[in-house]
Amino acid sequence: MCGIVGYVGAKQAAPVLLDGLSKLEYRGYDSAGIAVSDFKNNINIVRSKGKLCILSEKTEGGKKLEGVCGIGHTRWATHGEPSENNAHPHYNDDRTIVAVHNGIIENYAELKGKLIRQGYGFYSQTDTEVATKLVDYYYKKHNDPIRAIANFVLRVRGSYALAVLFKDFPNQIFAVRKDSPMVIGIAGGETFIASDVPAILKYTNKVYYVGNTEIAHLEKGKVTFYNLDKEPINKEVAEITWDAQSAEKDGFEHFMLKEMYEQPKVVKDTVNGLLVDGKIDFISAGLSDEELKNFNQITVAACGSAYHAGVVLQYVTEELARIPVRVELSSEFRYRNPVADKNCLVIVISQSGETADSLAALREAKKLGMKTLAIVNVLGSSIAREADCVLYTKAGPEIAVATTKAYSSQLIAAYALALKLATVKNTITGERYLSLIKELSSLPEKIEIILNGKESIQHFASEAANKKNVFFIGRGVDYAVGIEGSLKLKEISYIHSEAYAAGELKHGPISLIEDGTLVIGVLMQDRLLEKTLSNLVETKSRGAFIAAVTCENNEKAAEVADITINVPKTEGLFAASLAVIPLQLFAYYLSVLKGNDVDKPRNLAKSVTVE
Ligand code: M6R
Repeated sequence: MCGIVGYVGAKQAAPVLLDGLSKLEYRGYDSAGIAVSDFKNNINIVRSKGKLCILSEKTEGGKKLEGVCGIGHTRWATHGEPSENNAHPHYNDDRTIVAVHNGIIENYAELKGKLIRQGYGFYSQTDTEVATKLVDYYYKKHNDPIRAIANFVLRVRGSYALAVLFKDFPNQIFAVRKDSPMVIGIAGGETFIASDVPAILKYTNKVYYVGNTEIAHLEKGKVTFYNLDKEPINKEVAEITWDAQSAEKDGFEHFMLKEMYEQPKVVKDTVNGLLVDGKIDFISAGLSDEELKNFNQITVAACGSAYHAGVVLQYVTEELARIPVRVELSSEFRYRNPVADKNCLVIVISQSGETADSLAALREAKKLGMKTLAIVNVLGSSIAREADCVLYTKAGPEIAVATTKAYSSQLIAAYALALKLATVKNTITGERYLSLIKELSSLPEKIEIILNGKESIQHFASEAANKKNVFFIGRGVDYAVGIEGSLKLKEISYIHSEAYAAGELKHGPISLIEDGTLVIGVLMQDRLLEKTLSNLVETKSRGAFIAAVTCENNEKAAEVADITINVPKTEGLFAASLAVIPLQLFAYYLSVLKGNDVDKPRNLAKSVTVE
């Protein structure tokens, strides 16, 4: 999410840093900053909350910061709110050590305690300030930047890409990474560091990929790598041969991976787009509270994953707002001769806004005189233009055929609608409403935590690569997310899979379970846990291999399952937003393992504009 850029060469560093940061904007950020060492070896820092243009204005496009060596950062808040004070670069007390960091220092609280006991004070809420002061602590001990960083690596748990300026080592950058991307570019007399190649591709296509825990020492036109014992490492320079289209992937191997990684940001943007003074507001969608109050029924029409988001909408809205919701495939709705009801709101959900069946369903509803609301991602698309009211999801352009970030943002729209209806219909208490809003706002951070643990899912995928059939089971919202997980798997891995409401297994599908069949149970609802667990046990006794997607510390699930995939705890109604992430990653890694065209799976198109 955050972005790092560094430069040492003959040019003024600040404009290069700002330019590089602008190429990393897609990653999502809420504050930015740069640090440049001037000709007297003082390190000057400028930071600002908000967009990069504010930082650019503040520094007059970088002109205000003189010097040929510097580091820059775009921050997406994890520890501490988005603010200038929490923005990077961070620094030690006398500003002789200045650092930028991506990732999460998991044991930062313990390290902070240790540093406080050593007499350090803290001005921010960030784990990066802790990281900077830990480097300072070891630098004071060893008087050697490489050894200071090596000690930092040995003490820190978590993921990081860290770039540091030391006043005692002018016009040099020291860097290290673990599980967070970092590349180093070299061109003539210039050396660059960045989270992603596009940030420096304009200047060079010769890059070094920094390995985990390798320490890089950047000087003008030169880079030296060390291991943790301070022994130099030889590394091969790689030549980037990207075409323009691949460069749009911003360093990710596939658009789908990039788009999965954008989910914390798009969820955050969609939540923020619907909150006015901390409360859900549908005025921008064109629906007043009065109008909403008068609907006593909802019909959702959609296709594919958008239909699956509609199924979640059904569970959540019926639970919170106590009004009946019917979810239909657009292709059925359009020909079913539906009964017109003036008090029924028809919602059409579509990423592209161009899906032929959904457009036809919308037209049918309008013809019958029903009020229509479109939940659409693409601005100005046909469905958006023709619907009476439009709620735009804020997923940005989605390129991979298999939707990920658009589905996640549709879920947010669904929760928001349910919450809004619940308030206008007075079916939940103010206290419950506020606690749900709070939980909604915490989803981006929780999604990011799951994405950061992607390796365990990659490992699970490698174990499942030979499976011929996969079943997903769950109840309520867990079932709704199961059908999406199953679709993702089919679409891109070409493995046959089915999703069932757990209670349905005994009514037929259990006959398909045999030795080694993979059954993925989604177990996010406390209330329904034991019921679904019993269904999993039934498949296990018939030879199934069980994987459980569940909340942390679910001992009951861990006892039954062969593999447990943990996600952070959340409100059961919002569980789809978290449970879907490992299911997307699972499908993605299986597709990669099978050598499939992940972004453009066979026989599928991004937007289905024909019947
Ligand atoms: O653009 P839409 O949301 O209307 O598209 C609907 C489906 O075609 C779409 O969700 C499809 O199922 C995706 N390929 C799923 O990943």
